Amino acid sequence: MIILGNLQLEWLDLYLIHWPICAKPGKFSFPIDAEELMPLNLKGVWEAMEECQRLGLTRAIGVSNFSIKKLENLLSFATIPPAVNQVEMNLAWQQKNLRDFCKANDIIITAFSPLRKGASRGPNEAMDNDVVKDIAVAHGKSSAQVCLRWLYEQVVTFVPKSYNKERMNQNLQIFDWSLTEEDYAKISQIKQQRLISGPTKPQLKNLYDEEN
Ligand SMILES: NC(=O)c1ccc[n+]([C@@H]2O[C@H](COP(=O)([O-])OP(=O)(O)OC[C@H]3O[C@@H](n4cnc5c(N)ncnc54)[C@H](OP(=O)(O)O)[C@@H]3O)[C@@H](O)[C@H]2O)c1
Repeated sequence: MIILGNLQLEWLDLYLIHWPICAKPGKFSFPIDAEELMPLNLKGVWEAMEECQRLGLTRAIGVSNFSIKKLENLLSFATIPPAVNQVEMNLAWQQKNLRDFCKANDIIITAFSPLRKGASRGPNEAMDNDVVKDIAVAHGKSSAQVCLRWLYEQVVTFVPKSYNKERMNQNLQIFDWSLTEEDYAKISQIKQQRLISGPTKPQLKNLYDEEN
């Protein structure tokens, strides 16, 4: 209710759990220190999310940064399954197993960092990858368009971010062409590495992180 008041909305379309972790309330340091972490009561949190949907405060509920293992756990007790899992997904972190799992369980994936670009994001193995650049040249498209077209062809949703009108328009021009089998063969060779490992300090990564 407080969130809706702050947003001046009567309901949300979609309400997500941002990370499968729990920090002590009150102090909001980032990244989160080890001593700030508490065990996550996922069942309790999800029951509250379900109640929000039943009360009409949100049309749908979902999660973000959930692995297959965490989704399996959630699905074992959820009475309303998550509609969406928002995760890092791009040509350099393709997450095929997670895509297959979500498809089989009717969970829509939203790919964040679909272009994997930004000063704090480290080397860009998606847009700056030679394979992606070659495919872009062959189609007369930009590397960004190749990245977004690939996601579109995986039937996942995605949230590219740009403050530039020209690039926003460019990012919409992905619907009248397609990647070829040859492109896919090249794409399968791109080195895979997760970029965003979470809001905790690196040494805490193993507390919540699993492959896919
Ligand atoms: N759920 C989560 O835990 C989580 C984590 C991270 C991010 N997200 C969300 O994901 C969304 C996007 O993620 P992101 O910002 O990390 O990554 P992104 O959308 O992959 O990349 C954004 C960067 O790409 C540039 N860009 C956009 N279009 C371009 C184009 N056509 N050519 C060249 N550069 C282009 C933008 O610069 P310009 O503005 O200069 O165009 C910006 O620097 C955000 O809404 C964010 O909130 C969610």
